[in-house]
This record gives sequence, structure tokens and C-alpha cells, in this order.
Amino acid sequence: MFILFRKHLFSFSLIIICLTNITTLAQPPPFFHHICENKANYTINSPYQRNLDTALSALPTTNSGFGYFNFTTGQLNDRVISFALCRGDLEPALCTNCVNDSIIKLRELCPNQTEAIGYYNKCFLKYSNETRNTNEVALPNLQNTSNVDRFNAALRELMDRLRGEAAAGGPLLKFATGNITGPNFSTIYGLMQCTPDLPEQACSDCLEAAVNRIPNTNLYGKDGGRILQSTCNFRLSAGTIRNGLV
Ligand SMILES: *[C@@H]1O[C@H](CO)[C@@H](O)[C@H](O)[C@H]1NC(C)=O
Ligand SMILES: *[C@@H]1O[C@H](CO)[C@@H](O)[C@H](O)[C@H]1NC(C)=O
Ligand SMILES: *[C@@H]1O[C@H](CO)[C@@H](O)[C@H](O)[C@H]1NC(C)=O
Ligand SMILES: *[C@@H]1O[C@H](CO)[C@@H](O)[C@H](O)[C@H]1NC(C)=O
Ligand SMILES: *[C@@H]1O[C@H](CO)[C@@H](O)[C@H](O)[C@H]1NC(C)=O
Ligand SMILES: *[C@@H]1O[C@H](CO)[C@@H](O)[C@H](O)[C@H]1NC(C)=O
Ligand SMILES: *[C@@H]1O[C@H](CO)[C@@H](O)[C@H](O)[C@H]1NC(C)=O
Ligand SMILES: *[C@@H]1O[C@H](CO)[C@@H](O)[C@H](O)[C@H]1NC(C)=O
Repeated sequence: MFILFRKHLFSFSLIIICLTNITTLAQPPPFFHHICENKANYTINSPYQRNLDTALSALPTTNSGFGYFNFTTGQLNDRVISFALCRGDLEPALCTNCVNDSIIKLRELCPNQTEAIGYYNKCFLKYSNETRNTNEVALPNLQNTSNVDRFNAALRELMDRLRGEAAAGGPLLKFATGNITGPNFSTIYGLMQCTPDLPEQACSDCLEAAVNRIPNTNLYGKDGGRILQSTCNFRLSAGTIRNGLV
């Protein structure tokens, strides 16, 4: 009787473990930023929805080998352009995981929108019926910098270096990271990346324009932050993250 009971208890806990695993799989972590472009909704069972389903189920299988995924399908108004980009130094398995999570999460958050973009720390996903760039987002760090002028001078030097490196990365990967000494012997870490389909000059221009907009964003005076858009992005941080950008 006792043994039978223990056996049941054992299978019961197995069931609980399985259920917990399923829940974990079905619940990807939240994005730190997402946009459901609210200009147009598609309708259920429309050609657009079918194309979107097709695109997003194929997308995870299109890894370029360097963390860039793209899949386009359909014609004219029903065309779906989807792509995803992982941080350039992310392991392939984690990258695919991140893209898979993005697909689940974005469709959950923007169930009806024709266009949507979701950003994780290590990857982002966008789908749309158009190729135009998505409006940029500036996300500042919380800390103020100790010396704005010296911070900006160091930053300019770091950003110019990384911009050149990222843009020159070639057709497969446009990604650069580095650091520079900032005010008060702090270390400023930077990361820049473009989607690899962007030509070198366009990548450089995109990053240059993003950096030039810092003074007009809430990043100004902070010790770091990110500027995100669908074709290029950068991230910088001083002091608070000791071992580079994680
Ligand atoms: C699209 O659908 C969302 C709900 O999913 C709704 O909040 C929004 O107003 C709709 N937008 C348009 C333009 O109809
Ligand atoms: C992905 O992009 C590349 C280059 O931009 C293009 O050649 C290729 O056809 C695209 N793949 C898909 C599936 O859309
Ligand atoms: C994308 O979809 C919106 C809403 O349906 C439409 O107004 C726009 O013209 C479409 N763009 C293209 C390139 O088809
Ligand atoms: C990602 O999803 C695809 C199907 O969409 C699946 O084949 C693949 O195993 C998944 N990869 C990971 C790492 O979860
Ligand atoms: C929006 O999407 C949800 C979930 O797919 C669906 O239940 C709802 O009917 C859709 N709304 C519109 C206006 O299409
Ligand atoms: C940063 O500076 C602003 C104005 O210069 C001030 O209002 C704010 O409290 C400061 N924040 C921190 C975290 O020190
Ligand atoms: C430099 O760091 C010291 C110690 O952390 C601090 O007291 C001082 O205010 C800092 N100087 C500037 C210019 O921020
Ligand atoms: C800064 O980058 C250099 C390589 O350019 C690296 O050797 C060094 O460890 C980095 N410094 C810090 C503090 O991370």
C-alpha cells in the first residue's frame, strides 16, 4: 500500500515537472521594447495572415550563419517581409532560441498588426508589408554621467571607430564592440551593428545619424543607453557594467 502510494506520488511529480516545462516553453521572456504599428490591422484568415504565418514559420530556418534571418513572401499589399538579427557574437543555438521566442512573443503582443517589431537584449524581429525603416527608439541608462563634455568626447572617438569597423564588416556581419577610457578613468563600452544586407556606406550613415541624434534624445547626459532601429543600432555603457556589455 505504502509502495503503491509512493509510486503514485512519483508519477504525480513527473507530471508536474512536464507541465512546468511546457509552461516555460510557451512563455518567452518579455521584450524590453516593442512596437505594434497601429496603422493597419490584417483580418483573420486573410491572405496577409496566411503569408505572415508562412513567413514566421520559415524564418527560424533562414539563419545566414551569422545571425541574420530573412524571409519574404506574397505579392503587393499581401507581401510580408520578415527579418531577425541576433547580436553579432551570440552562439547560433541561443540565437535561434531568441528568434523563436521573438516570434511567439510578438504575435502575442501584436495579434492584429500588419507591422511589428520586438527587441530583446540579444536579438530583434520585425515583420511588415513595407521595407521602410522603423522609427528609432532611444532607451537611456538610469545613471547620469559625471562629466558630459568629457564623456561625449570619448564617446565620439569610440563611436567613430566602431562605426567604421561595423560598416566594413562585409556582406555577412556588420558588428563591432569595443571600449575607451571615459571621465574619471571609467571605461565606456560600445556596440554597433547593422543588418548585413545594408551596403557599407548606408550602414555607416545610419550609425552616424543615430549617434548625431544623441543630443536630441533622453540619452544625453546619461552614462549610456541604446538607440534602436530596424537597420542599425548601437548601445553604450560606462561604469555600471564591469565586464563589457552583457
Ligand atoms: C488594431 O487592433 C487593435 C487590437 O488588436 C486595436 O487596438 C487597434 O485600434 C486596431 N487598429 C486599427 C487601425 O484598427
Ligand atoms: C534574404 O536576403 C538576401 C539578401 O538581401 C536575399 O538574397 C534573399 O533572397 C533573401 N531571402 C529571403 C528568403 O527572402
Ligand atoms: C501596407 O499595408 C497598409 C495597410 O493595409 C497599406 O496602406 C499600404 O499601402 C501597404 N503597403 C504596401 C507597400 O503595400
Ligand atoms: C525554433 O523553431 C523552429 C520551428 O519554427 C524549430 O524547428 C527549432 O527547433 C526551434 N529552435 C530552437 C533552438 O528552439
Ligand atoms: C485580433 O486578433 C485576435 C487574436 O488572433 C482575434 O481574436 C481578433 O478577432 C482580431 N481582431 C480583429 C479586429 O481582427
Ligand atoms: C540626473 O540629472 C538630472 C538633471 O541634471 C537630475 O534631475 C536627476 O535626478 C539625476 N539622476 C540621477 C540618477 O542622479
Ligand atoms: C570621480 O570619482 C570620484 C570617486 O568615485 C568622485 O568622488 C568624483 O566626484 C568623480 N569626479 C567627477 C568629475 O565626477
Ligand atoms: C578594452 O578593449 C580591449 C581590446 O580593444 C581589451 O583588450 C580590454 O580588455 C578592454 N578593456 C576592458 C576594461 O574591458
